[in-house]
Amino acid sequence: MRVGILTGGGDCPGLNAVIRGIVKSAPKNVEIIGIMHGWKGLIEKEYIELTEDDVEGIHILGGTILGTSRTNPFKAPETRDKVLENIKILGLDALIAIGGDDTLSVAARYHAMGVKVVGVPKTIDNDISNTDYTFGFHTAVNVGADAIDRLHSTAKSHERIIFVELMGRDTGWITIEAGLAAGAHLILIPEFPMTIDEISEILDKRMKAKKYAVVAVAEGFKPTDFDSYVTVEEKTDEFGHIQLGGIAHVLSRIIREKTGYETRAVVLGHLLRGGTPTAFDRILGTKYGVHAMELVLNGEFGRMVALKGNDIISIPLEYGVSVKKFVPYEYYKLAMMFFG
Ligand code: F6P
Repeated sequence: MRVGILTGGGDCPGLNAVIRGIVKSAPKNVEIIGIMHGWKGLIEKEYIELTEDDVEGIHILGGTILGTSRTNPFKAPETRDKVLENIKILGLDALIAIGGDDTLSVAARYHAMGVKVVGVPKTIDNDISNTDYTFGFHTAVNVGADAIDRLHSTAKSHERIIFVELMGRDTGWITIEAGLAAGAHLILIPEFPMTIDEISEILDKRMKAKKYAVVAVAEGFKPTDFDSYVTVEEKTDEFGHIQLGGIAHVLSRIIREKTGYETRAVVLGHLLRGGTPTAFDRILGTKYGVHAMELVLNGEFGRMVALKGNDIISIPLEYGVSVKKFVPYEYYKLAMMFFG
C-alpha cells in the first residue's frame, strides 16, 4: 500500500508531529510518500519517500518538513486533472491531506471524484467546525499572550494606548484567548464589530481612569464604519482570500487623531505561527496523525479526524469545512466583563 501525505495552507506548529504520527504508526508494508508544497506537489509531481528515520524527533519542530503552498488545483481544469493523473502515476492508494478549510475543501472535492482521502484539520485560527481544537492554535495563543503581557509595562510607562494585532482572518479565537489570558483592556474581533466612536469611548474612559491601555485586535476586525475612514486596496490569493494585516496601524492613527492620546501599533503576524509547538499541540498533532493512519487502514475515506472533549473521533470532511466555527456571543460577553 502507498499512502501520500501533503500539508497545505499556512504552516502551523504541530504539522511535523502529525507527519511523524502517520509515519511511525504505519505498518511495515505501507509506504509513505511525502508530497511537497501541498497540492502544488501533486500538480508538479514533487515528492519524497518518508521513512521512520526521516521523521525522527521532528515533532518538536515548527513549520512543515514537506513545505506548503496555497495552491488551488481547482482553479483550472488542467491542474485539477493533473492531480488525478499524478495520483495514478505515483500509485497512491490513499491520500492524507493536512490543512485548513481550503486544503480540506479541495480534499473533499477529490473524494467526491473517487480519490481515497482522509483529512487532518490544521489552522492556528481554530475556525474549523466540529472539532474542539486544531493544533497550532494553542501555540499561537501562548505567543500572543506573552507579547500582550510584555506590552503592558511599556504602555503603562509611557501612558499610551497600544494596539496589538493578532492573526485570525475570519474569526477572533486567537485574539480573544490571548487577550483574555494577558488582560487586554479591549478585545476587537471580526464576529463583533464596533464603531470607531464606541472604541474611542471605551478607551477614553480607560485612559481617564488608568492612563494606559492595551487593545488586542484580530487582523480580520473591521469597524462597522470603517469605509468612512479608509480605503484599502485588496489583494487576494488563489482561494480568493484578501491579504490582511495592518488594522492595528489604522486604528492607532484614527484613535490618536480622534482622542489626542498617544498611540502605538504592534503587528504580531507570522510570529504567532513560527517556532516550536507547545506540548499540547505536539500531542494533538501526534494523536491526529495516528488516527488518520487508522482511518486509512480501516478504509474510512472522505473523513476528517477531530477532537471532541478528550477523544479523537472522525467526521465526514464536509462537516469540518462547510461552515466556519465562530466565537460565540456568550464567550465574547465573558471577555467584555474585563474591558476598560
Ligand atoms: O493560516 C491561517 C493564517 O495564519 C491566518 O490567520 C492569516 O490570515 C493567514 O494565514 C496569513 O496567510 P499568509 O501566511 O499566506 O500570509
